[in-house]
Amino acid sequence: MTKLAIIGGTGLGQMKGLKIISTKSLDTPFGQPSADYVLGSIKNLEVIFLARHGNPHTIPPHKINYQANIWGLKKLGVTDIIAVAAVGGITQAMTPTHIAIPDQIIDYSYAREHTFFTNDLDAVTHIDFTYPYNQSLRDHLTQAAKKENLLISTTGTYGCSQGPRLESIAEIKRMEQDGCDLVGMTGMPEAALAKELDINYATIALVVNWAAGKSAGEISMAEIEGHLKKGMDNVITLLTSFISSWKSC
Ligand code: HPA
Repeated sequence: MTKLAIIGGTGLGQMKGLKIISTKSLDTPFGQPSADYVLGSIKNLEVIFLARHGNPHTIPPHKINYQANIWGLKKLGVTDIIAVAAVGGITQAMTPTHIAIPDQIIDYSYAREHTFFTNDLDAVTHIDFTYPYNQSLRDHLTQAAKKENLLISTTGTYGCSQGPRLESIAEIKRMEQDGCDLVGMTGMPEAALAKELDINYATIALVVNWAAGKSAGEISMAEIEGHLKKGMDNVITLLTSFISSWKSC
């Protein structure tokens, strides 16, 4: 049996279309998750929703308890996670309001609790991370986008910065040289922790601004919020369509 969770990021503190059945407050060996888990259904499929930045949106990227969030989902029986993330666009196709399903990730974050394999180990554990994102979930998202006539990027490398500040032009140049198409602040260690607990994980990345230096002038919060508002409807359409097709397989 599979069980799906959606982790909502900036601009997705609540899931439109989710029929709420109950909420679950969990304590974990790693502390408190960002918020209560919302148990509900979309298109008659049981779905668990978690607001990554808390409810209300108050937890900055570097303070999110990623370990507790993922541990709690595992405890609730979750097998598959779709994470939604607002990102900056680096390469040409990644224009504001564009959606990408990344296939690779580079971690530039630091000083975050990034693994479950630290204490009380029977043996030192190194998980494989060749493919950080689950291929089957990515394929289903790609098919759902096609069905909805949404023009998305079906690959892309996500660079995870530390935040909460945005980047300098030089930092974005370096990330581009490294091969990053997108920049966000929450993709890691979330993806790696899910993999450590053997949970399938994929991300829907919504571009909400050009990354530093990729457009004239500075980046404003008004610009980010405007693109979030414009783009989130397509994210919801994609998610809902994904759920319809995923539940039948
Ligand atoms: N940089 C990092 N994270 C982000 C950005 C950005 O430009 N936009 C949205 N999240």
